[in-house]
Amino acid sequence: MWRILCGIVVLAAIVNPLAETRGVRRRRAVKLQLDNYLSYDGIMEYLDQLARSYSSRVTLKNVGRTYEKRVLKVAMITNGDGRPGKRVIFLDAALHSREWMTPAAALLTIHKLVVEFEENSDLLADFDWHIMPLANPDGYVYSRNTDRYWRNTRTPNGGNCFGTNLNRNFAVDWKVGFSQLEDPCDENYAGSAPFSEVEARTVRDIMHILVDSQRAVMYLSLHTANRSVFYPWVYNTAPVSNQKEHDEIGRFVADRIRQSTGTFIKTWQYAKFDGTFGGTSMDYALLAGFPLSFVFEMSGVGQDQVEYKFFPPARDIRHLAEESWTGIRAFAEKAIEKYPPSRVIAYKQMVEPPNNAASRIRGFSSLVCILFIYLTNVFGSNSL
Ligand SMILES: *[C@@H]1O[C@H](CO)[C@@H](O)[C@H](O)[C@H]1NC(C)=O
Ligand SMILES: [Zn+2]
Repeated sequence: MWRILCGIVVLAAIVNPLAETRGVRRRRAVKLQLDNYLSYDGIMEYLDQLARSYSSRVTLKNVGRTYEKRVLKVAMITNGDGRPGKRVIFLDAALHSREWMTPAAALLTIHKLVVEFEENSDLLADFDWHIMPLANPDGYVYSRNTDRYWRNTRTPNGGNCFGTNLNRNFAVDWKVGFSQLEDPCDENYAGSAPFSEVEARTVRDIMHILVDSQRAVMYLSLHTANRSVFYPWVYNTAPVSNQKEHDEIGRFVADRIRQSTGTFIKTWQYAKFDGTFGGTSMDYALLAGFPLSFVFEMSGVGQDQVEYKFFPPARDIRHLAEESWTGIRAFAEKAIEKYPPSRVIAYKQMVEPPNNAASRIRGFSSLVCILFIYLTNVFGSNSL
């Protein structure tokens, strides 16, 4: 009897530290690869591994499936203290699929918050982060494998034309602004209806869940490569009610980046920068009830000072992702400073999105025709 008991104790003493070592080893194995652009599968594997190794602080949620049935995932990150209902920073990346640096920056952000938790725990004390590192997987796979400049989804539009621009598909002045929004063969195509795309609906639903549960604070959408912080509105040149706050946060981010890498970032209300148009996720987030909403147009300039735009060479991925993280950290610091738990946020019912004025425009079609040609030239290469 004593021999058996003794044997169990000895066995437990041996097995237990072994199990712990295995745990540590497994943790060390979760390495973020930034020497090459990750594939869709590579990104999903990294997320799965991380959620297994850091299960107390990362929860992966399958939030939907794309047109081509790829899984859409959100990493929900906490500090593990179990306190529910914290305020949330919602970050997404690669709504535009050719902007390859944006998933890299989103994954580095996840890595910083989870693996390098000790250095960044201030960003998780009273806030959770919900991060969608790949908002348009179909487009990303197509851009990586077939046509690198692919920007849109992969839904068929009839004829030989495919894809909708997700950042034109949200129900804010949908299809209003310039002629290519209505062209199913153009990379600015706004879609067959507001929220025709399941990927846009998925982002929309996350926004509404966060607002309805009174947790929404900041929506941050990553794009490349205009070196800008943009804030709403895009559809309207009128200032947002808390314009000062947006502007101050944008300038804080720009200063932090300039001090750290020397890169110069502009801060602007988008409509004042490049004209008005409808359908953006940034405008929608603010209308839905987020107090803060931004697009961060990351840099595409390599260490050799060459502007690579969407496709910096692999050797520049790490440095550009780190620079973006410097900016994302600054966004978060300032948002947390502005919206501490003690500040009550008055979440309103969703402001009814502005009416679709497309029919109005059609009524004036003959008059507006000349204007369209003008707008086509002005807005042909909008960056957002
Ligand atoms: C940003 O967009 C504006 C307007 O389209 C353009 O003039 C400018 O060159 C762009 N900057 C970069 C760095 O792409
Ligand atoms: Zn973009």
